[in-house]
Amino acid sequence: MLQIMYISTGACAPEDIAQILTVSRANNRRDSITGLLYADDRRFLQVLEGPEAAVERAFARIGADSRHRAVVVLSRRTIDAREFGDWAMAHRTPGLESDALIALIAQRLETASPNVRATFEGFAKIRRAA
Ligand SMILES: Cc1cc2nc3c(=O)[nH]c(=O)nc-3n(C[C@H](O)[C@H](O)[C@H](O)COP(=O)(O)O)c2cc1C
Repeated sequence: MLQIMYISTGACAPEDIAQILTVSRANNRRDSITGLLYADDRRFLQVLEGPEAAVERAFARIGADSRHRAVVVLSRRTIDAREFGDWAMAHRTPGLESDALIALIAQRLETASPNVRATFEGFAKIRRAA
């Protein structure tokens, strides 16, 4: 299975996010993709997990979506088991649960390149300020 984690920039209204989630949940269920979509008022952070070809296809569609920009892949790795399955493309906003989520992501990025870590840390800082 393939796991892709990215962050992007985009200020979406709540109704845009609701629409993204409706389409995503239907497509991802069809394609056996799970993960999560975290959104605050400035950024998205998403994890996609599932069969390699399906994840690549979904990520190509997402990358071409004009509702966000500056998509930066934090990590792309092969996994044996789903790591974010419990969240099942749930939508998270800043709060206590999100702190646990951010900690889990930080743990997954321990071996990431300094560049990737710096990008993620920038994201976490913005989130704390939100
Ligand atoms: C931040 C963000 C996250 C998205 N996540 C997903 C996703 O997990 N799965 C998905 O199919 N589409 C996702 N989309 C929507 C896709 O960009 C695209 O609009 C959609 O897949 C098209 O689906 P359709 O061909 O069934 O209309 C996301 C869009 C944005 C802006």
